[in-house]
Formats: sequence, structure tokens, C-alpha cells
Amino acid sequence: MSETNSPRKVHVKTWGCQMNAYDTERMIGLLRPLGYGVTEDPGAADLLILNTCHIREKAAEKVYSELGRLKSQRKDGARIAVAGCVAQAEGAEIPARAPQVDMVIGPQSYHRLPELIARAARERGEVLETEFEAEAKFDALETPREADGPTAFVTVQEGCDKFCTFCVVPYTRGAEVGRATDRIVAEVRALAAQGVREVTLLGQNVNAWRGTAPAGSGEEVWGLGRLCRHLARIDGIERIRFTTSHPRDMDDALIEAFAEEEKLMPYLHLPVQSGSTRILKAMNRQHTAEDYLRLIERIRAARPDIAISGDMIVGFPGEDEAAFEETMSLTREVDYAACYSFKYSRRPGTPGATMRGQVAEDAKAERLARLQALLDEQRHAFNARQVGRTLPILFEARGRHEGQLKGRSPYLQSVHAEAPEALIGQVVPVAIERAGPNSLTGRIECSAAA
Ligand code: SAH
Ligand code: SF4
Ligand code: F3S
Repeated sequence: MSETNSPRKVHVKTWGCQMNAYDTERMIGLLRPLGYGVTEDPGAADLLILNTCHIREKAAEKVYSELGRLKSQRKDGARIAVAGCVAQAEGAEIPARAPQVDMVIGPQSYHRLPELIARAARERGEVLETEFEAEAKFDALETPREADGPTAFVTVQEGCDKFCTFCVVPYTRGAEVGRATDRIVAEVRALAAQGVREVTLLGQNVNAWRGTAPAGSGEEVWGLGRLCRHLARIDGIERIRFTTSHPRDMDDALIEAFAEEEKLMPYLHLPVQSGSTRILKAMNRQHTAEDYLRLIERIRAARPDIAISGDMIVGFPGEDEAAFEETMSLTREVDYAACYSFKYSRRPGTPGATMRGQVAEDAKAERLARLQALLDEQRHAFNARQVGRTLPILFEARGRHEGQLKGRSPYLQSVHAEAPEALIGQVVPVAIERAGPNSLTGRIECSAAA
């Protein structure tokens, strides 16, 4: 029965955005010094963490079905923690509905996980922690971090001040807080020294990031464009990406960085949500459809090969057939390399939930199907256009088949090619031979194989 010599095990299940995936990684990092190793088997875990997402109703409800499953799967005495955005939004409602939950930890409090585990072990009843402490969380991020392969996410900003009327993020993640410039630079340096070649800077509104310029730079404030150019000078860093951007914060310096900094990858996730200016106004996006199209034109003028991806919502309150057609025509005009699309989901506490003109579910489903057919076509065509080109591929890991590696194109496409394992972590020219709906296949150019 004694477990004292064997390491404890933690199992984490993660939903939602890349920020949540990053948080999961950091939680595991905080638990390691306490003797926790990761297990894929929930039945073997001493601690189960559900890192949750509240963005749409379906995402939030998954937590409860998972909690139901864990009730019978978990081993005796295992503790269950609900972290992430459902934890923040629902707080004490969670243990009220699912008494097997021992801890509820909001996304700004997970750096206190070790302390909360100790408290949960001492006290009976559940432990609740949903304070907003972004600064303290950033401090906790400063613990050294182990790189996991040649690519890494780096948080530069948390929270959102935009208050789009459909969205829970400003409530679950709190106000926008930027991480200090020198800390971002130090983290990227440390990752590069461990073999990381590509960093993706993360933030809910990543292009709204502002930071104090490093001493001696002769500048006062840096924006994201300046930061990217600085990070590109770090030894070993070959690729830089950032996500997610808001059209309102796409400033000239950032657009220029796309023109001038080759290491900034020609791929930009720039969600618009709707092609109707009337709906954009109701969504509080603070720009028109024309503003967005003009912005895309300017970005493409700066970097002609840039691929644009986006997010769309269909069936926001007030969206009629004509407004939806405007979304279709904007989509045709932009010609997305990739785009996520969703049926509007009414989120408690957001202004959209109580607006007049809610759209019937079957109309939403029908519009979504039409939009997705168009987006699928655009994605396939974009993939097919790569056939016959030679693209620089960063190999990340072994592929599915023996002797094969998988990597990413500059446009974030998955690429498979026969290649020796020694090429993992290198950017190699690959002649693209075939395109599927979700990935490309190619052959490494002879000079690289030699
Ligand atoms: N910060 C990012 C996106 C955050 S959420 C941005 O501003 O673009 C990711 C996507 O989920 C959004 O872009 C939106 O398309 C979708 N989404 C957010 N709330 C939603 C809701 N209530 N119903 C349907 N989709 C939603
Ligand atoms: Fe949500 Fe809008 Fe903020 Fe994006 S910008 S996180 S969609 S409120
Ligand atoms: Fe979901 Fe929270 Fe991210 S609601 S999308 S996990 S910020």
C-alpha cells in the first residue's frame, strides 16, 4: 500500500485554445518538483486535472460528462481538480453539481496549485481559487522550463479588454495584461538554447501587446512587430509566429515586420467573425467589413505569399439571410487558407445571450454547412497550390510510417516526407508532391539528404 517511494501520477485532460494547452504544460512543470509524473491512464492517476474551456456551451458541458466518467474510473483516493475557464466561470457551482471535485482553480491561479493540493489534503470539502492574479501567474512562469521538441508556445499576454458581445473570455481570463519584454526574451533564449527553432507567441489579443523597451535600445515602448524582430536575432530561432490577433490592433509596424523579417512566418490568424458590418457592430468588433478587407489587402501588399486564416460565427442574433450572404462573399474575397467556423452559442452573462433576434438552431446549422463547404473548398485549393513547389519544412517528430518524418510548412500545413531522424529540429527544403485535405506529402531535396 505504501506509495512513498513511487512517484505520484497526474493525468491532465485539456480542452480549448492554445493558451490552455500552454497552461497545462506549465501546471505539469509545477507539479514535477512535488514528485508527480504524467500518466495517460486516468485510472492510474493520484491527481486528475481537467483544464476546461467555456467558449461554447458544448465545450463547457463536456466537463460534466468527463467528471461522470472519472467517478468510476479513478483509483481510490485520487483527487480531482477542475482548472481553466469553466472553473473561473462556474466556480462553486461545479462541486455543487459534481461533488467528486476536490479543487476548482481559475486560469489566473494555477501557479498556486502546489499549495492548493496541500490544502485539499488537509481540509475536508472542496478548495476554491478563482482570484485574478495575472502578475503573480507571470512570476510563476519564470521557473525554468523544459523544451519539448523544436517548437514552443510562449505566452506574451493574457486576458482581453475587447468585450465582443458573444464572448466569455474577458470574464474568464480577466483584463489584458502584457508580460514584461525582458522576461519574454529570456524565455525564448532559454528555449533556443535547448534546441527550440520555432516559437509561437500567445495571447488572447496578442497584437495588442505592448512592453517596455529593453534598456539601451534607445526606444521607450515596443509593440509586437518590434518584439518579433528582436526575437528573430536570438541564436537558433528560425521561425516566429503569433496568435490570436484582432484586426483593430494590426498596426503599421507589425505589417512592416511581415515585409522585412523573413523569420516571421507568412501565416496570419486574423479572425473577422462576420462579413456583415451591421452584425460586426452588434458583436462590438469595432471595425467594419470593409476595414477588414482593406487591412487584408495591406498585409498582402507587404507579404504577397502570406496565408490568412480566420474564425467565423454564423447565426449571431440579428443575422438574417442577407447578412449571412455578406459573410459568404467576404469569405470568397479573402480566400482563406484555413478558417474555423462555429454556430453562435449563447453564453450566460454575455450581452449577446439576451439580444433580440436569436437565430433558430436549424437555420444556424444550415448556414454553417454552406459556409463550411466553401471553406473546405478554399483549404483544399490552398493545399493543392503547394504541389510542385519546394517549401522549407521544420521537421518536428517521427511520422506515422517507418522512415518518415513530419513537420510544418511556413503556412502551418502538416508535411510528411521520408527523412532521416537526424533532421528533426532542422528546416529542410521539401518538394511537395501530393496534397490531401489536411496534410501534404513531399520529398526532401537531394542536397539536404546528403
Ligand atoms: N481572442 C480570439 C478568439 C477567442 S475565442 C479573437 O478575438 O479572435 C475563439 C473563437 O471562438 C472566436 O474567434 C469565435 O469565432 C469563437 N467564439 C467565441 N465565442 C463564441 C460563441 N459564443 N459562440 C460561437 N463561437 C464563439
Ligand atoms: Fe473574445 Fe473578442 Fe476578446 Fe477575442 S477579442 S477574446 S473574441 S472578447
Ligand atoms: Fe476556451 Fe478559455 Fe481558451 S474559454 S478558448 S480555454 S481562453
